[in-house]
Amino acid sequence: MGDLGVIILAAGEGKRMKSGRPKVVHSLGGKPLLAYVLETARRLKPKKLAVVVGHGAEKVKKACGEDAITWVLQEKQLGTGHAVGCSGKIFAGFSGEVLILSGDVPLISKERLLGLLRCHREQNAVLTFVSASLAEPAGYGRVLRDGKGNLLGIVEERDASEKEKQIREINAGIYAASARFLFDALKGLSNRNQQGEYYLPDVVGIALKNGRTVGTVHAEDPREILGVNTREELAMMEKTLQERINRKWMAAGVTLKDPETTYIEEEVTIGRDTVIGPNTHLLGKTVVGERCRIDGSAYITNGRLADDVHLRFSVVLSDCRIADGAIVGPFAHLRPGTSLGRAVHIGNFVETKEATVGEGSKANHLTYLGDVTIGRESNIGAGTITCNYDGFEKYRTAIGDRVQVGSDSTLVAPVRLGDDVYVATATTVRHDIPAGALVYNERSEKVKKGWTEEKRKKMKKG
Ligand code: UD1
Ligand code: MG
Repeated sequence: MGDLGVIILAAGEGKRMKSGRPKVVHSLGGKPLLAYVLETARRLKPKKLAVVVGHGAEKVKKACGEDAITWVLQEKQLGTGHAVGCSGKIFAGFSGEVLILSGDVPLISKERLLGLLRCHREQNAVLTFVSASLAEPAGYGRVLRDGKGNLLGIVEERDASEKEKQIREINAGIYAASARFLFDALKGLSNRNQQGEYYLPDVVGIALKNGRTVGTVHAEDPREILGVNTREELAMMEKTLQERINRKWMAAGVTLKDPETTYIEEEVTIGRDTVIGPNTHLLGKTVVGERCRIDGSAYITNGRLADDVHLRFSVVLSDCRIADGAIVGPFAHLRPGTSLGRAVHIGNFVETKEATVGEGSKANHLTYLGDVTIGRESNIGAGTITCNYDGFEKYRTAIGDRVQVGSDSTLVAPVRLGDDVYVATATTVRHDIPAGALVYNERSEKVKKGWTEEKRKKMKKG
């Protein structure tokens, strides 16, 4: 068994996507298509890993990081065969096996690739490719066989006759090849076809013509080898991935009340006995602990929820941490830098940003908490605003332990309220308040008896 090399083809534009961005950077489950293929390739620990880029090369490199990848530039996209040929220099003198993967076939598994390599070796083939039977094979290259089932070659959809288009066995665009044979055979490709391109699948015909063995491995679950060429295919694959991820979490002990409308991205983790309601998005590197309740309509990006957290209906959370037993919502917005301590309550129409809230503190109604640190067991009354921005700079507010902020108060930062401070209702606090003090604004309350009736009379006359 020789060395293993991997070539990933990612130079095409993906015309059928009708996009300003290269196809392989389009996002599936929150990650670029190419990232899936790269990850799977890396898991095989190849000696060489080459990615052929061309259209939007810089964007592709940026989207996938430069880590341990040899980037090969295919300046003009003259076809998949030409693309592989571009990496010839890198594989000069390489005598092992090369796996060729497509940047637009993201769900292929490591196990399938190991199976492909095994089959390739067992049959002593120079080339082995993955095939599958599709109910709707349109768009794919079709596998041609004689009456006995012997392989004859691959014909691309655009070059296929009406009869050939009826064939349901397709080429998945995933190959194992002996490096020496491959780079030699590529020299024999022609571009005399409908697209004027050098087709990699034509190598199958070349091998057979030379009496060499070409193997095929049939993928039982064709969803794994589907390619993304259109937005519609991307959406269908998103669905496949969503179902796969949701099944995984249900098997791990998470209740999804409506898997159809639950969107969990690849890197998310969820603890057991957590119950997730409809229309929930768990995105990025979100971590949800055990026994959490997410009632529904939650949009969470990079949130870290400890155990027993309850997110009531309709919340938006980004880059925030929530400790055990906290309750958030309904209709709350936790923005980046929010950190809620144990058993904190954040209620309706409360927005937080760069806010650290200590254990047991509460802000239950209509409040903005920006650039603030709040101690333990404090209560922030309805309509409280931390005025953190003066039009030029942002400032912080510090609130101690057991502080009571009365409703409709404004805290003008920078400002500090010591422990046990009591802010009377509708107070504007502009200066630091020492621990244990009461703060209120001098305002007299005036009463005019019978005023309403007089007013009504006046209005009627007029
Ligand atoms: C290809 C196969 C087809 C197979 C299908 C499976 C060819 C000619 N056809 O068709 O038999 O059924 O995949 O998904 O190979 N690329 C380059 N440089 C190029 C052209 C393409 O790097 O000059 C890359 C693309 O970025 C893409 C991959 O090769 O990642 C496949 O190209 P694409 O145009 O999608 O080929 P298909 O028409 O899907
Ligand atoms: Mg394709």
